Amino acid sequence: MKKTVLVSGGAGFIGSHVTVELIEAGYDVIVADNMSNCDMTCFEGVKKITGKEDIPFFKIDFCKEEEVRKLFSDNKIDAVIHFAAFKAVGESVAKPVMYYKNNLNSFLNVLEAASAHGCHNVLFSSSATVYGEPDKVPVTENTPRKPATSPYGNTKQMCEDILQDTVKATKGTDGEIKGILLRYFNPIGAHPSALIGELPRGVPNNLVPFITQTAIGKRECLSIFGNDYPTPDGTCLRDYIDIVDLAKAHVFAVGRMLENKMKADCEIFNIGTGKPVSVLELVNSFERVNGLKLNYKFAPRRAGDVTAIWADPTLANKEMGWKAERSVDETLAAAWAWEKHLAGK
Ligand code: UFG
Repeated sequence: MKKTVLVSGGAGFIGSHVTVELIEAGYDVIVADNMSNCDMTCFEGVKKITGKEDIPFFKIDFCKEEEVRKLFSDNKIDAVIHFAAFKAVGESVAKPVMYYKNNLNSFLNVLEAASAHGCHNVLFSSSATVYGEPDKVPVTENTPRKPATSPYGNTKQMCEDILQDTVKATKGTDGEIKGILLRYFNPIGAHPSALIGELPRGVPNNLVPFITQTAIGKRECLSIFGNDYPTPDGTCLRDYIDIVDLAKAHVFAVGRMLENKMKADCEIFNIGTGKPVSVLELVNSFERVNGLKLNYKFAPRRAGDVTAIWADPTLANKEMGWKAERSVDETLAAAWAWEKHLAGK
């Protein structure tokens, strides 16, 4: 029988790409989202890409216990992937209560409802932010977590702990929960169809949407935050992971849970390429691959940025059989195709 996966926050950037990959892998998917940070563009794109018009969609607020409980009691859900969360680092510093309230309550409601209604598998979307400024790169899953540098990062650490505690506490009970934490590095790009991609509201915080919006003329100039870091070209180093590759990691992880292949009751995987790329290298690649010149300038460092972080993805490669495949060039071409699609070009 086909297994059903609930994707909370499934209309957003990562959620929509994951929904496509799950459907293409043969899962039934239920999408739920409160639409607080997206519109229906990506959900409509998902239907077009998969040719599936009847994907169940629920507009629900995961902070409302009753709504979450009803979703789990009305539907037979085999696994849940929890994305629904606020994600802007700077905003979380300005509005910590809003971040803790939303990101913690929504996850607690999901865990409680899953455990009460026979959904034993919970995948939590975590972030490389949990490593803070690491003493050593690349980071493995055993690299110690550092104190979070923002309330956003703190919610990721707290949700990781909550899931691990829940897995321990429910072991052997009717409401048993098994967990996987995927720690994403920097997801970028768009689906090769250019029908779904990143859709930031207002001024983008993240590098690639700022680049594509500058290239299309929506923004005047990209500021590269800091060129005096102790790195080869002075700009920060990150591990940019293609969004479709990242989405595929979820298919491997869900399969692992549903086919009882897990080696521990709560597993952690880094989802990255293992290759550091500097901000300047990324900008230069974008220009080269897409044959255009980008208006950019060097600006002061951004508060809270770490100098260098990239993944050691060996565990995900060996244990899950997943590996990042698309090159940064392909990914940057896809990001540009998506921006042009949005502009109707
Ligand atoms: N950058 C610029 N100019 C911009 C935007 C970003 O130079 O306009 C630089 C940043 O300074 C950084 C790099 O591009 O060096 C990447 O920045 P992003 O904002 O795209 O990504 P971050 O690495 O800051 O953020 C990611 C995730 C967050 C997570 C954070 C933790 O998007 O969810 O890592 O480090 F919290």
